[in-house]
Order: sequence, then structure tokens, then C-alpha cells
Amino acid sequence: MGKLKIHGGHTLEGSLQVQGAKNSVLPILAAAILVRGESLLQNCPDLKDVDAALSILRYLGCTVTRTGSDVHIDSTTLTRHDVPDELMREMRSSVIFLGAILGRTGEATLSLPGGCELGPRPIDLHLEALRTLGATLEEVGGNIVCRANQLVGAPIYLTSPSVGATENAMLAAVLAHGETVITNAAREPEIVDLQNFLVAAGAEISGAGTPTITIQGGREMRPVAYRIMPDRIVAATYLSAVALTGGRLELRDIVPEHFETVIHALRIAGCEITLHGQDLTLTSTGRLEAISPPVMTRPYPGFPTDAQPCLVAASVKSKGTTVFIENIFQNRYRYVEELCRMGADIKLEGRVAVVTGVDRLVGTSVSATDLRGGAALVVAALGAEGETLISEVDHIDRGYDDIAATLRTLGADIVYIES
Ligand code: UD1
Repeated sequence: MGKLKIHGGHTLEGSLQVQGAKNSVLPILAAAILVRGESLLQNCPDLKDVDAALSILRYLGCTVTRTGSDVHIDSTTLTRHDVPDELMREMRSSVIFLGAILGRTGEATLSLPGGCELGPRPIDLHLEALRTLGATLEEVGGNIVCRANQLVGAPIYLTSPSVGATENAMLAAVLAHGETVITNAAREPEIVDLQNFLVAAGAEISGAGTPTITIQGGREMRPVAYRIMPDRIVAATYLSAVALTGGRLELRDIVPEHFETVIHALRIAGCEITLHGQDLTLTSTGRLEAISPPVMTRPYPGFPTDAQPCLVAASVKSKGTTVFIENIFQNRYRYVEELCRMGADIKLEGRVAVVTGVDRLVGTSVSATDLRGGAALVVAALGAEGETLISEVDHIDRGYDDIAATLRTLGADIVYIES
């Protein structure tokens, strides 16, 4: 597994086109199963998780080709309805294939996802939604086997607004007979992107972005060319990096409404942020103010849990104390121990992290604990004195399309070392 070597302390400056959104492209790749014919997805980021999703599609019998950021998927030749354990293990979000495979073939077999680095990641809401649409579920030797000759639309109430369960329910409902209404649906922008793809392909869906999504199932799905929206968490990561190092960053072709809470927090921290349509410019002196009131992660439109680690990293040299409260995932603070090894002063108590600003961070050897925690270490290393060596960078490659090359265009001293 490779490492990232970062020599911190450089002011960053430049302009970036943010990559396509990982959390959009994964459910949309699953949605391509519902279309007979060749779909084209544009702006697909080059990520480990996308590679894993493409491997699953190929295993199922789809024809998949990739040229740069264009991915062509032809699911006409889909023959299988199972995803083997080794492919499931490559990406936790593979459960997103469940609803689409079931809808298309009448059967789906997936191994049950285990715990993950963010704590237990149950799929009860996904399964309950499929059961409501008429699927029978059976656990056989660590696999979940779902069957339904014909799914039938129904009202689905999600007891909490899970992103993945909302997507799985939408995907299963598209080929079901009749109407499905999902209540207490997740409202994340990625759900809207999924709806936009499905509608472009012929589905009749409305309401994504609100708590109620309505799907009239059984419409004919035709091949489509679709451009994946920009990644709001990657945007938040690079903004956090420049907030900490000081400098100026222009992000082009983004959707600022997708991460308003992050922009708001960075402004409170003293960054100057200007918006011009789909472009944003952040200027930072590198010496941030503490953020108040506490930053609390919440389902969209609240502050995104995925942006929490990078904002914590950006805050470690602030003047004063910033409090973070994590409401979505247990174990989301595993990276904090690594930040403290670099000199950060962060006290943890359950869901609460109290970050007291220090004068300096010092580079050392640290290990990425998970995707966004790994990105937070990159942010901190850019603002640290001396050299930081980050191991376990495979976690970071799951969600960032060549983070080292991207940051080098801003003037960072960062290289990927094969080990
Ligand atoms: C998605 C994102 C992830 C992000 C998260 C929250 C993808 C590929 N991943 O993950 O980056 O951090 O949304 O914005 O889009 N839960 C249950 N039962 C279920 C499903 C979820 O209890 O059946 C709980 C989870 O344990 C968690 C909470 O609900 O505490 C939110 O999870 P969910 O919204 O489902 O996140 P994911 O879809 O897994």
C-alpha cells in the first residue's frame, strides 16, 4: 500500500475543477442496471470505489468501458443476480446494488456487510423498504437472498432518513408495478442527482430533495447520457486545506447550495468567500477564528458528517476553541488520535470533540483510519511544519481522484510513494 509524503507550510493558491461526486456516481452506476441498452456517465471520478462498482457490473454480465471520465455501461447482457463476498468487501456501499438487481432480475443475493471503520453500518432500513415492495428476504450462510417475481409499489416510511436506504428504495421502485411514496426520505443532493438520472432515462419520479419522493413504477427505461454532479465533500476538503494553510482557492463549476453549511462555518472562521454563479473563491490568512456555535453534523441540509474531519483539521490552529458534535456515525473520530500526534489539542467525549487551537502542528508519521479521516490528515499535514508521512492511503483513494496531483497544482509539496 502506498504512502503520501507531505512537506507542509506552503501557502496554497490556484483554481480547481472539482471531480464528479462519489456518492452520486455509485447509486447511478447501480441505476444503469435498470436500463436496457448503453448508458453513458460523464464526469466519473477515477476512484477505488468506482473501480469496485464497475467490477460488480462486469461480474453481473454488463459490458463496461471507461475512457477518461466517460463510462459506458450496457446492461442488456446482464445475466447474474449475485455479488460475491470478495466484491462486496471491496466497497461497503455495494449494498446499493440490491434494489436495482432485484428490480431487474426478480432476485438478488449479496453477502451481508460487516462493521466498518465508522462503526456498525446496519442495512435494516434498506431491507425493510424492499420487504414493503413485496420482496421476501432470507439469510443463507452469511448472504441475504431477496426474491420478488414482481415488486409492487407501496408507501414506504423510513424511520430515519438514510441516504442508502432512500436510494435502494428508489431503485427498486422504478421497475415495480404502481406507485411508491417514500416518506422521511433523505434529502441529500446525491438523491436529487439519482432522480435526475432516472428521470432522464424515462422513470417517473418527483420529490427528491424533499422528505417525500413519489415513483410511478414500470416506465420503460431507455439509454441516456448523464453528467455526474460535482463532489461537495471534495470541494469542502480543498476549501478546508486552503483555510488552514492560508492562500486563495477558486473552485469552478460547483453548486454552492450543496454545501452552504460548510461555507457558513468557514466564513465564521474568518475566511473570505465570494460566490459568482457556479464559481467560488476562498481567501484565508491561515490564522482562523474559533467557530461558534458548535458544528453539529446532521442529515442534509444540516452540516455533512463527511465534511466534519476536514473542518476539524482546519480548526486545529484556530484562535480559541471549537466544539464539534457528531450525530450520524459512531467512531467518526478515529483520525483524531493521529491529529494529536501532530500536535493538535483535541479532547473527545463520546459524540463531542473539543478542539483548542495550538500555535503549530509538526509533521510526523500517521496512518489514515478511513476515507474522510485520511483526508483530514492530508489537510493537517499541509498546515504542519516539516514532513508528514501518511500510510494506509488506500482509504483516501476510495474517494479522491489523485489528491496529490490536485494539491500540487495549488503549490503543495505532496507526493505519492509506492511502497
Ligand atoms: C451515505 C454516504 C456517506 C455519508 C452518509 C451520511 C454514500 C455511498 N455514502 O452513507 O458518505 O457519510 O450517507 O450522509 O452515499 N442506518 C441504519 N440502518 C440502515 C441504514 C442506515 O441504522 O438501514 C444508520 C447508519 O448507521 C447511520 C445513519 O443511519 O448512523 C446514516 O446512514 P446513511 O444515511 O444510510 O448513510 P449511508 O447511505 O451508508
